[in-house]
Amino acid sequence: MAVHTLTINDQLISARAGETILDAARDAGIHIPTLCHLEGVSDVGACRLCLVEIDGSNKLQPACVTEAAEGMVVHTHTEKLADYRRITVELLFAEGNHVCAVCVANDHCELQDMAVEVGMDHVRFPYQHPEREVDISHPQFGIDHNRCILCTRCVRVCDEIEGAHVWDVANRGSDTKIISGLNQPWGEVEACTSCGKCVDACPTGSIFHKGATVGSKQGDRQKLEFLINARTKGEWTR
Ligand code: SF4
Ligand code: SF4
Ligand code: FES
Repeated sequence: MAVHTLTINDQLISARAGETILDAARDAGIHIPTLCHLEGVSDVGACRLCLVEIDGSNKLQPACVTEAAEGMVVHTHTEKLADYRRITVELLFAEGNHVCAVCVANDHCELQDMAVEVGMDHVRFPYQHPEREVDISHPQFGIDHNRCILCTRCVRVCDEIEGAHVWDVANRGSDTKIISGLNQPWGEVEACTSCGKCVDACPTGSIFHKGATVGSKQGDRQKLEFLINARTKGEWTR
């Protein structure tokens, strides 16, 4: 198998041909922040938290969808990247309605963790306070669009692991939203197997088990890893 040699933060590392900068960095123990990346499903480069600087390019590149190449010189933690990552997280908070104190994922939320990681102590942008709905038509689960950061982890897990493709992305710009079925109430989508994988994949309190109270939602990443392994090894068919 072809192998590339590159430098990340002055550390010489090797990457398999086709491997992304993110995977190569993680293999070498180098941390790059991510929100939309989920081990085992495809990458879409939605959140832009994993942006890195590459020598010779004046554009910041998302590490999760950029292939490592021979001789690349990558920087993952520059002052510029710290600024951009913090701005990105501030914009996520300004764009939705994230009232953490009354969220099912409070204290177990990847968005909160990211805010801490990037050192966000306040938001410099005007809050949009969009009007968004909560859908509790499903007998077991609910989706609160106020807390959705459009990472599409639910979309990819439901499509690529469960094979049900209940979720999708509709509209453009600030009207973009996650929809179930053909923009139907979730409970009316017959394709949903009620497996709960989207609940575990969601990094915020947006998709939750009905009856969950403030702070009680804890993502079960091990369950997802188990499912992904079983699927990779062909233990089930679609
Ligand atoms: S419960 Fe399972 S089938 Fe239903 S939307 Fe979530 S991931 Fe898809
Ligand atoms: S519902 Fe959750 S997993 Fe789906 S896009 Fe929104 S934040 Fe991401
Ligand atoms: S993790 Fe790369 S863009 Fe979200």
